[in-house]
Amino acid sequence: EKGGYEHFMLKEIYEQPSAIQDTFRGRLLANEAIIKMAGIEDNMKKFLNADRIIVVACGTSWHAGLVSEYIFEDLARIPVEVEYASEFRYRNPIITEKDIVIAISQSGETADTLAAIKLAKSKGAFVFGVCNVVGSSIARESDAGAYTHAGPEIGVASTKAFTTQITVLTLMALRLARAKGTISSSDFRHHLIELELIPEKVKKALESDAYVKTIAEIYKDAKNCLYLGRGFNFPVALEGALKLKEISYIHAEGYPAAEMKHGPIALIDEQMPVIVIATKKGHYEKVVSNIQEIKSRKGKIIGIVTEGDESVKGLADHVIEVPESSEFLTPLLTTIPLQLLSYHIAVKLGKNVDQPRNLAKSVTVE
Ligand code: M6R
Repeated sequence: EKGGYEHFMLKEIYEQPSAIQDTFRGRLLANEAIIKMAGIEDNMKKFLNADRIIVVACGTSWHAGLVSEYIFEDLARIPVEVEYASEFRYRNPIITEKDIVIAISQSGETADTLAAIKLAKSKGAFVFGVCNVVGSSIARESDAGAYTHAGPEIGVASTKAFTTQITVLTLMALRLARAKGTISSSDFRHHLIELELIPEKVKKALESDAYVKTIAEIYKDAKNCLYLGRGFNFPVALEGALKLKEISYIHAEGYPAAEMKHGPIALIDEQMPVIVIATKKGHYEKVVSNIQEIKSRKGKIIGIVTEGDESVKGLADHVIEVPESSEFLTPLLTTIPLQLLSYHIAVKLGKNVDQPRNLAKSVTVE
């Protein structure tokens, strides 16, 4: 059932190229320059008239929501707020009939997310579900939705659910951008072609596995880890840190790279591994100068870089390459080595990777 892999998590990490392909199926028609999503087409008026999108989710799904905030705002120019479902539901939030609430949930059973959409519905908002499990409670409770079609995710640590959630949300943002006219038809066409190349690029990113394993050996005894990223890749830093925490029990924090100097830089010494997402474009120079600051404080630097990068190589202790792509699609690539890093560290520490202590696959109580 693990298909020859030692753990479900590793199997699911490796399934990502085909899982993303499954998410595309019937929706992404790059040659014809079309995105087809029934849940959007049927409710296009609502989407076009919406004042804002409120994303509600928990954990990794919340991180996918954060990535989508950058993508929706950049491409479709729709204001987005991303909320922890647990905070949103108890805050007496301001919700109107012109709000669209997107609930993101792998299981479709997370108690706080389900309660948040019930509240939003009672205030007249339109609820759109992005779930993996077909027929789940959140899928049923939503007014419309789009499944991720990632296939069953067994490992408690979410991997392919995350990348397929980002894929669905990216398709939605592109479709809406086209309908709103916030991107040109030639940019739209170009983005679809780039998107179609992603599964192949994820496959290439997975080739870093053996090298990531050697890095895991070096840092497995670290007590703390810092993950930094900017823009589209700031949420990836959060996700990398969550992955390490939940399966290896090593304390880790994700931060927007520029926030380092507002506090966390005080933690940096020769004991501190810092994983920095420094892909080309997207504030690259600024991230490189953050790397210099870490180096001058003797932090250990693991850079996630674009293939062929030279500047970070000269500064970092290790660099892991991912293929070049449009900036807004880089989270789908940069997240791969971070999943592998946490996996290998956890295995080397002898932890129960698929069922970490104190955690459940779906959190059906608040
Ligand atoms: O099923 P959901 O996507 O609603 O689950 C949300 C979180 O419980 C989940 O993503 C959790 O954070 C994962 N264990 C992270 O790997």
